[in-house]
Amino acid sequence: MARTTRVLLSTLSLLLGTVTIVGMSPPPPAAALPDGLAPTPPMGFNNWNATGCAIDENLIKATADIFVTSGLKDAGYQYVNIDDCWAELDRDPQTGRLVPNHVKFPSGIKAIADHVHAKGLKLGIYTSAGTLTCARTMPGGLGHEDIDAQTFADWGVDYLKYDNCNNQGVPAIERYSRMRDALKKTGRPIVYSITEWGENRPWEWAAAVGHLWRTTGDINDSWASMVNLLKLNAPLAPAAGPGHWNDPDMLEVGNGGMTDREYRSHFSLWATMAAPLLIGTDLRTATPQTLDILRNREVIAIDQDPLGAQGRVLRNDNGQWVFTKPLAGGDVAVTLFNETESAATFGTTAAELGLSRQPSYVVRDLWEHSTVENAGTFVSTVPPHGTALLRVQRANRDWWRQPPAGDFGVRLPSVGTGVPGSIVPAGQPFTATVSVANQGRLPMLDARFEFSAPAGWNAQPLNPTGKLVLRPGEVLSTGYQVTPPAGTPPGDFHLGAGLTYRSIFRDEVSRTWSEDLVVPEPVPAGVSDLGDLHWATARNGFGPVERNMSNGGIKAGDGKPLTINGHVYAKGIGTHADAQVLFYLGKRCTSITVDVGIDDERDPRPDPTQSTAIFEIWADGVQVADSGLRTWRDDALTLTGNLTGASVLRIVTNGGPDGFRWDRGDWAGPVLTCDP
Ligand code: GLA
Repeated sequence: MARTTRVLLSTLSLLLGTVTIVGMSPPPPAAALPDGLAPTPPMGFNNWNATGCAIDENLIKATADIFVTSGLKDAGYQYVNIDDCWAELDRDPQTGRLVPNHVKFPSGIKAIADHVHAKGLKLGIYTSAGTLTCARTMPGGLGHEDIDAQTFADWGVDYLKYDNCNNQGVPAIERYSRMRDALKKTGRPIVYSITEWGENRPWEWAAAVGHLWRTTGDINDSWASMVNLLKLNAPLAPAAGPGHWNDPDMLEVGNGGMTDREYRSHFSLWATMAAPLLIGTDLRTATPQTLDILRNREVIAIDQDPLGAQGRVLRNDNGQWVFTKPLAGGDVAVTLFNETESAATFGTTAAELGLSRQPSYVVRDLWEHSTVENAGTFVSTVPPHGTALLRVQRANRDWWRQPPAGDFGVRLPSVGTGVPGSIVPAGQPFTATVSVANQGRLPMLDARFEFSAPAGWNAQPLNPTGKLVLRPGEVLSTGYQVTPPAGTPPGDFHLGAGLTYRSIFRDEVSRTWSEDLVVPEPVPAGVSDLGDLHWATARNGFGPVERNMSNGGIKAGDGKPLTINGHVYAKGIGTHADAQVLFYLGKRCTSITVDVGIDDERDPRPDPTQSTAIFEIWADGVQVADSGLRTWRDDALTLTGNLTGASVLRIVTNGGPDGFRWDRGDWAGPVLTCDP
């Protein structure tokens, strides 16, 4: 295309203000309720993920106070929501009304609503579209819709979460519509959250019934759960829009089962999916890091964008996810989520986003809080389980005032195919590669790396660590040879790298990177019980992986003796799908033999349908044994895996086709054979 035509076209598109996003048709016309409530996804707090049934009025009042004092209110959080267990088991015999629990809410709900309203906030409450709520400690609303809705309205409630337990088989649309009508009759504006867990495809009908609908079962505070819900909710993007939102469940940020980096991913992904942002941690004990995540206004602005489009998956290459979310005014949010265990470099381009052609784009990094100019390749090196969230401006003629963008990151070599680079055996030197690529139109001046290894470790640069002028498109890459000293005790360590450079306007830009390392325990010679060894890394679907006991699913040490169909094992590893446990072998072992099966601590219902799992053994990147689908009915199955030459053993418990509820997978009596 001739240059003049190009300039004309881009001027034209500037004038018209059009931006087309490839593969992104706008959501279908909203069939939202006509009440104008929840024009953006509701933001607030709900106590369930933090406290379960242990709720009381002090918690709710304190949360409202903290909303104000900590800046959460200013950041947009509004609803303070009470979950299950707030009422007495019996209704008032005279009036038929719900009665607040005398011990937990001695002041009554109206007084709490007054407290919350006085802070400029709103109050939410909970019940179930059934005879009892899920915790069975209080009555549900089925058959009592009018009186319950009126009671809530009389108390000044602003939000209702209506759950699905004990529903007596009455069709969901009927149950949820009845409460919609009852709420409407009260005349009070009440945001209505449909919580039937995605069982009846609510994305197809619930826009006409409520303002948000759960699309999934319950979240729990694990990486596996968060990623599972992401995968269920992401494809439903076309159903969401102002006044009618997909709800992949409340936030777990701050509850301790994930790292802060993982919580930043959780928060970024929920914002990208225009999910309700309901804080699920106890704010009275939240760390500054947790508050910093929850208060990131630039990320919140993506969630709360008035266009109300749920971000869509542009691509997912083996866990390297690219999401795009069109924003009001023509900006685009680009979310780069790295689900994998190693740093990865990936992204998209202005052309792929369908942005009008510009010499350069102004890009805001919403976690780094930095603004740069980028020539049109929005690629980032993203750490394992990390997320880069970028806001790309549709056009900005002043792009040249910004410093150039740099793709900065650290790559670690792997001790074996498919093994995360974070595993670094003591005494073995490795080379960490720090690099930056100039993605702008302008030069980077005086680009310099800094590098910090754990105390006492030797780290030497193998080539120059800086460059006076890094031209557009040029890469500076420096290897650092790092040696964890022989005899380093097994454990977790951190490695840090930094980048500084200047733009032609002398603005100084600085970036940092931190990497978690694991020094693994050397494996003993001969035959050992795997249950007695220390793993290098472990992930689990519910609670932590257990050693020599089954997986209780909540906290460390809450399991029972490992038992598969009545057969008890003294040694082994208790997991809950989706789980993955890595042991460092250092190419010294030959085989593993283990009995696998679902623990007798399984789905307790009389006719369980859950409690299935698939057990896999991997030697580096090769699968050496696979149990096929095991159910709670099956006896243990013996698996044997050849580990010859492998650096790492990876045992994996996957959920069956029904997802991963109640999938307590036992690795019972595992025996590892290694050379001297
Ligand atoms: C269900 C809901 C949860 C929570 C509990 C309360 O499991 O999905 O979000 O409200 O009930 O018992």
